[in-house]
Amino acid sequence: MYFKLSEEHEMIRKMVRDFAKNEVGPTAEERDEEERFDREIFRKMSELGLTGIPWPEEYGGIGSDYLAYCIAVEELSRVCASTGVTLSAHTSLAGWPIFKFGSEEQKHKYLKPMAQGEKIGAYGLTESSAGSDAGGMKTTAVKEGDFYVLNGSKIFITNGGEADIYVVFARTNPEEKQKGTSAFIVEKDMEGFSVGKKEKKLGIRSSPTTEIIFENCRVPKENLLGKEGDGFKIAMMTLDGGRNGIAAQAVGIAQGALDAAVAYAKERHQFGKPIIAQQGIAFKLADMATSIEASRLLTYQAAWLEGEGLPYGKESAMSKLYAGDTAMKVTTEAVQVFGGYGYTKDYPVERYMRDAKITQIYEGTQEIQRLVISRYLSK
Ligand code: CAA
Repeated sequence: MYFKLSEEHEMIRKMVRDFAKNEVGPTAEERDEEERFDREIFRKMSELGLTGIPWPEEYGGIGSDYLAYCIAVEELSRVCASTGVTLSAHTSLAGWPIFKFGSEEQKHKYLKPMAQGEKIGAYGLTESSAGSDAGGMKTTAVKEGDFYVLNGSKIFITNGGEADIYVVFARTNPEEKQKGTSAFIVEKDMEGFSVGKKEKKLGIRSSPTTEIIFENCRVPKENLLGKEGDGFKIAMMTLDGGRNGIAAQAVGIAQGALDAAVAYAKERHQFGKPIIAQQGIAFKLADMATSIEASRLLTYQAAWLEGEGLPYGKESAMSKLYAGDTAMKVTTEAVQVFGGYGYTKDYPVERYMRDAKITQIYEGTQEIQRLVISRYLSK
């Protein structure tokens, strides 16, 4: 066992922490309030190589690994969960399936500009009547000559409207459910593609979440990702890694809330001493810190497994389950430590609490994570 991060990982953590503190944190509250996505932050991330952390240099990346990527998502989310999920959806939901299943041509055409930060990626799986039951999607893709013609719509698309490249899933064989599903790379300018309703949300408000619509959207046949009928497995395998990115986001949110709670507990005096010296608060903070550390270890372990080419689907579901619940609990407790002040917008803990909730919902609800984990147990 070796619990020390490598020098490269420590260097990336420091770089992202400084960047997050100086470039992301100062506007986090304002962007949350205004529900404003800031493309300039994404551009600055690309200057640091953050938009292509795990991809080889030939595809525009910096040739690092999934652990480094998780550390980056964690550090960004520590100050702004919206920025964390922007990078997470871009990297693990859109970049990963192209890296893993794309042809050389697709990787050069799509992954490279994404890794270099010229283009933003998104992932379209969920539909209005197919959420947890992702295989129940209704969007169709019918082959017509050199094109697939897509019809239908997807909802809850992270980076929707801001993204240039969408990895989407549609039925190529309506007779079959999962086995009749295929994956496609869709560009925002393709005929018949449009962006629909933008959601107004409880949290991660500066990360856009939209509907995307396909009305006779003509996608060149070269943009089929993998083989026809492979789409459902591609979607599931993508989520295996994506879930760990959300775990990293949850760890970052929880850590940010704990940082704020500890600082406040040291400075706030009641009954003649700082509240951190009151056992009720001190023990609360100790429990928060312990849960965060356990979540972080699960997350790093799953990322390490992925980097080693070992199975990580179960571990990734576990990290997302545990870290998501930890983020919700820790942020709620952080508000409690702040008391009445924590309930106001004068302090960031209410934002952390609102942001934490989504980590229990997206990329598979906590109930779906339990389903995934229990299926591994019964195998
Ligand atoms: N890796 C590889 N193959 C997999 C797989 C995986 N992780 N999971 C399933 N499969 C394969 C199965 O082996 C099976 O193949 P065979 O028939 O050849 O054996 C096939 O896929 C069908 O699998 P299931 O029978 O298990 O499928 P199911 O319909 O029961 O669904 C599920 C399984 C786990 C419930 C799945 O539907 C699921 O994950 N649902 C949740 C969806 C989800 O997470 N959505 C989030 C969307 S993204 C998002 O949140 C937004 C964002 O932008 C952040």
